[in-house]
Amino acid sequence: MDAIHQRVSLVLEYPVVFTRDLLAPASTVLVDVLCAREPDRRHRAVVIVDAGVAAAGSVLDALTAYAARHAAKLELAAVMTVPGGEAAKTAAVLDGIVQRLAELQIDRHSFVIAIGGGAVLDVAGYAAAITHRGVRLIRVPTTVLAQNDAGIGVKNGINAFSAKNFLGTFAAPFAVINDSSFLATLEPRDRAAGMAEAVKVAAVRDPVFFDWLVEHAGALAAFELIPVERMIRRCAELHLAHISGGGDPFETGNARPLDFGHWAAHKLEVLTDHRLRHGEAVAIGMALDARYSAFAGLLDEAALATFLTLLRTLRLPTWDAALEGPAVLAGLDEFRQHLGGELTITLLAGIGRGVDCRAVDLALVERSIVWLR
Ligand SMILES: NC(=O)c1ccc[n+]([C@@H]2O[C@H](COP(=O)([O-])OP(=O)(O)OC[C@H]3O[C@@H](n4cnc5c(N)ncnc54)[C@H](O)[C@@H]3O)[C@@H](O)[C@H]2O)c1
Ligand SMILES: [Zn+2]
Repeated sequence: MDAIHQRVSLVLEYPVVFTRDLLAPASTVLVDVLCAREPDRRHRAVVIVDAGVAAAGSVLDALTAYAARHAAKLELAAVMTVPGGEAAKTAAVLDGIVQRLAELQIDRHSFVIAIGGGAVLDVAGYAAAITHRGVRLIRVPTTVLAQNDAGIGVKNGINAFSAKNFLGTFAAPFAVINDSSFLATLEPRDRAAGMAEAVKVAAVRDPVFFDWLVEHAGALAAFELIPVERMIRRCAELHLAHISGGGDPFETGNARPLDFGHWAAHKLEVLTDHRLRHGEAVAIGMALDARYSAFAGLLDEAALATFLTLLRTLRLPTWDAALEGPAVLAGLDEFRQHLGGELTITLLAGIGRGVDCRAVDLALVERSIVWLR
């Protein structure tokens, strides 16, 4: 074959910063992050804010005051509010953002700063990734789920053609800033939902973290800030280690250990028209796959009981009526398509030990659903 063999190596590098009170005028964290690569410039930024965050607190006023105080380093080109939650992940919202970036003449040295839940970060990240083939993005996740999972990685996207995340790209952010103060205004449901991802990563990767979660489940359910911050940090560490050390940051392979519980979750979210939050759907999906793991002889019943008790103590659901009926099982095939070929799901071969499984016994899935009900 006559070919030039092209090989490009690429290093993706970005900080995930942990802080409190990011927008307090005296805090320099945001401008320090903006100036990390070019300290002597004034940096132009568009801020995209989750409407839920804007309504719950004083983020818009705080941004104006912050920009005034740090005007030497930050030029606030515009602040744009977009709908929060799944309503953000549409072509219409994407268009609105991209149009605004064009009007403001945002270039590849400017910044998009996205403040919000995972959904807003996903659409803003997608807009930033496709504008000029990539504008610098700083994510400021404001939910537990976004701080420990959705907001720290290399993916973005919107929903399309009735499928979750049908459009999107892999694109590393310039930086992520996790500010735990934002969590104060979260609804109880969203507080709990985000913890599902911590249970997930502990269950497949880290038995010590799992025991820690069990031990602190009461404090986490009461949303005590110190344990919540620790939970987020450990979950983020495990996630980031998976992205950098897993050998497959852009998910080209079939195995997705961090998608434990997610095949059913994706389906449940769509089936319930997003009545279930992502984390709630993940909790139910994990309960299903843990029950399946035990029926399949991989996980002992005591470990299953501990697992289900942890979910319930954290006020996460382990059942929804949408599990019944053929649609969830059909979700297995959609998950295979999403993976792009061979179906691989993650099961538990013990707490802290996720294993790939290629052959799924549909009768056993049904039995698990019946048992959970
Ligand atoms: N890109 C990824 O790698 C990745 C990974 C996992 C999940 N996700 C996506 O993340 C999304 C879920 O994100 P989520 O769980 O953060 O929820 P969300 O973005 O759907 O937000 C839930 C609700 O909380 C509101 N909100 C956000 N922050 C708030 C705050 N501080 N105070 C008050 N209200 C606030 C929002 O307005 C919204 O109404 C899903 O779309 C999922 O597909 C993406
Ligand atoms: Zn998830």
